[in-house]
Amino acid sequence: MRGPSGSHALRAAARGITAAGRLAPVWLALGLAACSGQQSVLQPSGSGARDAAILWWAMFAGAVVIFALVLAMLLYAVLQPPERRRPVSVDQMVIGGGIALPVVALSILLAFGLRMGSSTYADLPPDAPTVRVEGRQWWWKVEYVGNDSTESFTTANEIHLPVGQPVELLLSSRDVIHSFWVPRLAGKQDLIPGRVNRLVVEAEEPGVFRAQCAEFCGLAHTQMALYVVAVPPEEFEDWAQRQRAPAQLPQTEDQARGAAVFAGNGCALCHAIRGQNAWGQVGPDLTHVGSRLTIGAGLVANTVDNIATWIARNHEMKPGNRMPSYTHLDTDTRLAIGAYLEGLK
Ligand code: CUA
Repeated sequence: MRGPSGSHALRAAARGITAAGRLAPVWLALGLAACSGQQSVLQPSGSGARDAAILWWAMFAGAVVIFALVLAMLLYAVLQPPERRRPVSVDQMVIGGGIALPVVALSILLAFGLRMGSSTYADLPPDAPTVRVEGRQWWWKVEYVGNDSTESFTTANEIHLPVGQPVELLLSSRDVIHSFWVPRLAGKQDLIPGRVNRLVVEAEEPGVFRAQCAEFCGLAHTQMALYVVAVPPEEFEDWAQRQRAPAQLPQTEDQARGAAVFAGNGCALCHAIRGQNAWGQVGPDLTHVGSRLTIGAGLVANTVDNIATWIARNHEMKPGNRMPSYTHLDTDTRLAIGAYLEGLK
């Protein structure tokens, strides 16, 4: 016979379950909202990210099993009539729940984690591309390291990779701690001033993958993005060949005017444009800026209009960034600079 308190508890539990059931679509929508998208770790396209996703699902499954187990034990205890309830011994609780369960669960996780960690630091074939990525407040300097200076080149806020080939990233920082994270390709790795961290990234399919600084690094931290573009190997070689070349000379009258304004306003003190007497190292290298997807470190699409707006209003678009706002330049002048930079393919 079930005691009065047992049936009362049962009815209360049933009411709770019905209420939760009515909200099921809401829970489901909330739970699945983050399962896809350009920065979803659950939609891996790289070997490192795939390992992380497997680990995530394994931990999720483990958590579900343990949660169900705890709920079942709880229900069992609540539904027991009072006369059949008896206390669990301290030994059982300490040895079973306090030692055995955590040791088993953490050992399994440790084995998983060690295997995953070693794949992140995998050995590379000797011809694998090496890319130095330096975090700056708040953008990314990207340097492809070749066998000599004619093979090396510098770009910014965009990394191109050959699909199916591991690429070695050497991560460092010029100012504060940043963190490099392309959720769909690889695990997270910090960029720390004074040391170099290594991360191996391999894209399994072509695509454009958004990356984000994942360590709070100051005012514009949330606007410190980067795009990783994975293309077939032969396309990657073509791209690298174009990036090694010096900048294209202005082709139109507008572009020539833009180049003159660029030179006359001290832009070259901060920005480098190889082959055009601009050697600045403070801001992003602009030698082939026209070939990039975005400006402002993933902030807005790379268009003539956006460049013109950025030059005068970059502090509204990205508060805190280190570039001065050139409000004294009129719209036509800024559009000419936009046309010049956009021509640097
Ligand atoms: Cu760099 Cu956050």
